[in-house]
Amino acid sequence: MKMLRGCVAMAVAGVALAGAGCSPKKIELSEVRPAIADGTVDPAEWGKLYPKQYQLWKQTSEPTPAGKSRYKKGWDVGEENPDKIDEYPFLALLYNGWAFGTEYKEPRGHFYMVQDQLEVDPGRYKAGGSCLTCKTPYAPTLQKQLGRDYFAQPYQEIRGKIPKADQTLGVACIDCHDNRDMSLKISRGFTLGKALEKLGVDQSKLTRQDLRTLACAQCHVTYSIPKDADMKSTDVFFPWDGSKWGGITIENIIKKLRSNKPSGEWTQSVTGFKLAFIRHPEFELFSNNSVHWQAGVTCADCHMPASDVAGQKVSDHRIMSPLKNDLKACKQCHDDSPEQMREKIFAIQDRVMSQFIRSGYATATDAKLFEMAHKARAFGKKLDETLYAQAKDHYEEAFYRVVFIGAENSVGFHNPDEAQRVLGDALSHAAAAERQLRELLARAGVDVPAKVDLELAKYLNNRGVKKLMFKAEHEIKDPFAGK
Ligand code: HEC
Ligand code: HEC
Ligand code: HEC
Ligand code: HEC
Repeated sequence: MKMLRGCVAMAVAGVALAGAGCSPKKIELSEVRPAIADGTVDPAEWGKLYPKQYQLWKQTSEPTPAGKSRYKKGWDVGEENPDKIDEYPFLALLYNGWAFGTEYKEPRGHFYMVQDQLEVDPGRYKAGGSCLTCKTPYAPTLQKQLGRDYFAQPYQEIRGKIPKADQTLGVACIDCHDNRDMSLKISRGFTLGKALEKLGVDQSKLTRQDLRTLACAQCHVTYSIPKDADMKSTDVFFPWDGSKWGGITIENIIKKLRSNKPSGEWTQSVTGFKLAFIRHPEFELFSNNSVHWQAGVTCADCHMPASDVAGQKVSDHRIMSPLKNDLKACKQCHDDSPEQMREKIFAIQDRVMSQFIRSGYATATDAKLFEMAHKARAFGKKLDETLYAQAKDHYEEAFYRVVFIGAENSVGFHNPDEAQRVLGDALSHAAAAERQLRELLARAGVDVPAKVDLELAKYLNNRGVKKLMFKAEHEIKDPFAGK
């Protein structure tokens, strides 16, 4: 692939990305404007000084162009914002037992992040104030004022402490920018700051280029909401223990979640297992030695490309899928035409999608076999407990890998090799669990059909308080099925 701008792929050593990475020319503010008063949250106030960025930021409230992205429909013009549960029906079975299994919408524009919490099945914000952590610009202040209560108190109660006018305001200028000089900053010291410490990153040495990724990593990361004995939330933390900068691995994430009892946030109904969860790990997948990470490319390079607005170059604050603005971001570095780049993205995503769907169904099959084993046990059959423990271990290893890739929002594009490796491991763990469960059931004298009935309709219909029904038209099928 030919490069423009003399981008040279380079290995990244040390803590921070070397400054000489591969990045399109950054925009320099042509004039220093007066500082914005400390504590100004209202983006309209910031917009008085920087109207172009403000207008673009506001545009995240508009539906995105339709027919451009293959797998990330979000909220496109004239279409409905799809639910991952309808797109991937095996998730209805795997997530049955808590609100993610009832309604789990695809992401849409930044403008809606708090609004969408108010519209989703209310079970989703049961964890309390914790849920506001990567939604409202007031989260850092509220956490400081309220301490542990911020995490545990009911969501609506904490949201009620936000000034009325801003109660549905999502990510704002103040989340990413220093109000005095507009430089980038990390405003969530209580989550990302602590997690970077675990990685051994010296935050005083972060470069501008690092911050073009870390501004996003305040929220586009996985987190755990640990529970006390009464299932009340006590914190929000990123399970990065044992990992390093440029190498937060799924193995380490799973190890932390499985060994830390308070991370058991819910009980899976099909198996009765207490499990943890993994959310939108965009930063983790991308920064784990992907080709673009190695080359020093940042989230902002692809999602906030330089755009001409009325003769002025600005970073595109209408953040969305690069496919939906015809891949103008890629043109900053790649020579290929947008059509060629599009096909490259789809080729990567088709392969990842196929493996994701296959490992999802394989894991769901294991869950049903556990259900059968538990029934047999309840009827007094003796199970081989050694085999059972081994199968459970493989099952959980498969489960978290499926959740990881399913929650990551690029369908593997952010790190194609790693996504395939993770799913390959998911498939082999799921297959090992299936072998062991079949043997265990055979030994207990239970007949298991060659094809296990997943009873999906049971999990897909009448979901949650809204009694949502399966929308078959949103289902995404294995692109290689029957090929
Ligand atoms: C304060 C938390 C927060 C920060 C910071 C943040 N995001 Fe988001 N982002 C979200 C949430 C939450 C959503 C989903 C919103 C919804 O669906 O209501 C989202 C959605 C998105 C989407 C999907 C948009 C669409 O049209 O479907 C993209 C792309 C995205 N973010 C990229 C980024 C990038 C790149 C950065 C850094 C420059 C960033 N985000 C910073 C929380 C954040
Ligand atoms: C090399 C370019 C590139 C880089 C770097 C990059 N992304 Fe992406 N991102 C993409 C592409 C391409 C997609 C797939 C979009 C699609 O399928 O519509 C995507 C998808 C996404 C989505 C889902 C968009 C949607 O419409 O639902 C989010 C969220 C996101 N990226 C956030 C991030 C964050 C956060 C980072 C940094 C940690 C990052 N991206 C780095 C290119 C990039
Ligand atoms: C999700 C994080 C995020 C939010 C929210 C955000 N910005 Fe930015 N902004 C960035 C990034 C990343 C850059 C590129 C900075 C760099 O290269 O150093 C940027 C750059 C800028 C610049 C420098 C000129 C340019 O266009 O590159 C200005 C001015 C600016 N933003 C204003 C705003 C205003 C006003 C708001 C609120 C309406 C806002 N930003 C909201 C991330 C954000
Ligand atoms: C800031 C510069 C930059 C941007 C922006 C950028 N890329 Fe790249 N891309 C690179 C570099 C550098 C490489 C590594 C080239 C190499 O090693 O030969 C690369 C490699 C790739 C590869 C090959 C990856 C592999 O695993 O072999 C693909 C595909 C790709 N980019 C697609 C995209 C797409 C699609 C976009 C836009 C969404 C994009 N890139 C945006 C710099 C960039």
